[in-house]
Amino acid sequence: ARLPDLLRAMPKAELHIHIEGSLEPELIFALAERNGVSLPYASVEALRQAYAFSNLQSFLDIYYAGASVLLKEQDFHDMAMAYFERAAADKVLRAELFFDPQTHTARGVPMATVIDGLHRACVDAKAAFGIDAALILCFLRHLSEDEAIETLQQALPHLDKIIGVGLDSSEVGHPPEKFARVFARCGELGLHRVAHAGEEGPPAYIRSALDVLHAERIDHGVQAVHDPVLMQRLAAGRIPLTVCPLSNQKLCVFPDLADHNLRALLDAGLCATVNSDDPAYFGGYMNDNFLQVFAATGLDARHAYQLGRNAFEGSFASDELKRGYI
Ligand code: ADE
Ligand code: ZN
Repeated sequence: ARLPDLLRAMPKAELHIHIEGSLEPELIFALAERNGVSLPYASVEALRQAYAFSNLQSFLDIYYAGASVLLKEQDFHDMAMAYFERAAADKVLRAELFFDPQTHTARGVPMATVIDGLHRACVDAKAAFGIDAALILCFLRHLSEDEAIETLQQALPHLDKIIGVGLDSSEVGHPPEKFARVFARCGELGLHRVAHAGEEGPPAYIRSALDVLHAERIDHGVQAVHDPVLMQRLAAGRIPLTVCPLSNQKLCVFPDLADHNLRALLDAGLCATVNSDDPAYFGGYMNDNFLQVFAATGLDARHAYQLGRNAFEGSFASDELKRGYI
């Protein structure tokens, strides 16, 4: 079979998707209308025009503005269902969704509204698409640890609806150490722990995500290639990296997709995976990420099988679900 057909048909697990980053401009405008929220863009086209990023921060500013249309439980549900429909078309069987509650609670949206809407969508995704879905609550690292602790407090009544916690937003200047206490508390609560590290930040942030936060996976992690000792550790420990090729290209982590280091990570024996990050902003969902990074960097069918297995291995799915795909 042709490689693109294999990539499209391959069963997938998506481990790095910010559900607020799946909001397409059309849905942003529809929700703005529905909720009477005014947007600083005249049209869907004008909004899409603004999607030209020079680094992570230039993206985050627009991403948080887009999320401002989310007010009601139904909004969170509809956003996630739109993602699940795209994911199902790309043969995603398992999806672990990041969400950023502080973006919403800061606007007066209750934690229960956010989690209940997303959780109802996860339940519906199983019935509608056969997708096994779960939620990971992310703390915003540009805010304080006290604010993260307050967020965890608000989420305590909902712990049955989330499987873990993550750390995202502006990386450089906000090292993992800043969140040592809240992550320790999350570990005591039995939550899985992951963290963005080494997207723009140095290898030292990847090390402290592992050593200080006890992260089980590293989100992005592509800067690990600059530290051979760390590379060895990631490979030997089979610590998953949730790599997002189109995101890295659009945020200028790699100037050209052909320069992406996914192949180097795989060839060094790391448990690297392919994910979409913020698909509505970066020009593609799972299949787009696979097809484009394979075409640009000359990966082959063996890499495809490895990436497929890595994603299920690195997922927090039940052993029963994982067994069939590793
Ligand atoms: N929030 C949404 N997407 C993100 C990314 N790629 N890095 C950090 N925070 C994010
Ligand atoms: Zn991310």
